[in-house]
Amino acid sequence: MKGKVLALLRSQQGEPVSGEDLSHRLGVSRTAVWKHIQTLRDEGYEIISQPGTGYILKGVPDLLLPAELKHALAGNRLVTNIEYYESIPSTNDQAKTLADQGAPEGTLVVAESQTQGKGRLGRQWFSPQDAGIYASLILRPGLRPEQAPGFTILAAVALAQAVWQVTGLRAGIKWPNDLLLEGKKFSGILTEMKGEMDRIHYLVIGTGINVNTDPILFPQEFQTSATSIKAVLGNTISRIDLLVAYLNAFEKLYAIYLEHSLSPIIKAWKEWNVTLGQWVSVDLGTTVFSGRAVDIDKSGALVVQGE
Ligand code: BTN
Repeated sequence: MKGKVLALLRSQQGEPVSGEDLSHRLGVSRTAVWKHIQTLRDEGYEIISQPGTGYILKGVPDLLLPAELKHALAGNRLVTNIEYYESIPSTNDQAKTLADQGAPEGTLVVAESQTQGKGRLGRQWFSPQDAGIYASLILRPGLRPEQAPGFTILAAVALAQAVWQVTGLRAGIKWPNDLLLEGKKFSGILTEMKGEMDRIHYLVIGTGINVNTDPILFPQEFQTSATSIKAVLGNTISRIDLLVAYLNAFEKLYAIYLEHSLSPIIKAWKEWNVTLGQWVSVDLGTTVFSGRAVDIDKSGALVVQGE
């Protein structure tokens, strides 16, 4: 009902609607309407009440609330469920728990902060309150496990496209999962999988983006290597706009991957990448080796030419 009150206020496009009108249209009492308006206000919605005319929706909170995301994702057919948390240890871990319990493809877990945000190779992902995007998407593609790394490539391209669309900033993709602005990392992707030898059960695509994060807040070890969109752009941006642009780009690229192959996505990746041609050090967790990055193959693996 609260969502319906919000939808009606939104549909008024800044024009007032009376409590009586709302209660008739929704089939509930005026007291119930008033209570939902209060709850929305508590969540950060700016709703003014003009004596004699009614309620006007003046502003929405800068939070990744499901009602806001659902509204903005109206044309997106990939994201079907949204699980929202103010704070959670890790959206990836929560998405895996939900997937193990049978959550369908398209379930998105999103949080305003994480207390144990994870990166690749056991690293930490700094996840302060309300400043970044911490989101994990459950996918159940009918693909084989060796096709899973393609999703990190796909997500990186979707994110670069979304950042370009929303901010006009050109991010660089550093293989396999880093996105850079001015040579510093502002976003990372953590793809996790459960499956058998020949079948993926599910994938969790975790995305962390330093959006409005103040770089001064980064822990000491990230001070020189990390940045945020705000630090580069000089102003804050809407996290909802960026997340929605990312999920819409993701949906399109995912359809291409399923209907065709990873090849068109690799082609797009090459336009954004900052890795090929570089001398790289490859950390496989157990061994580290170096060489020149010459290509990525059709599965998304980096081809490195040693000495
Ligand atoms: C990396 O750069 O190594 C990957 C970072 C991935 C961070 C995101 S934030 C949302 C999701 N939940 C996590 O615990 N990690 C990913």
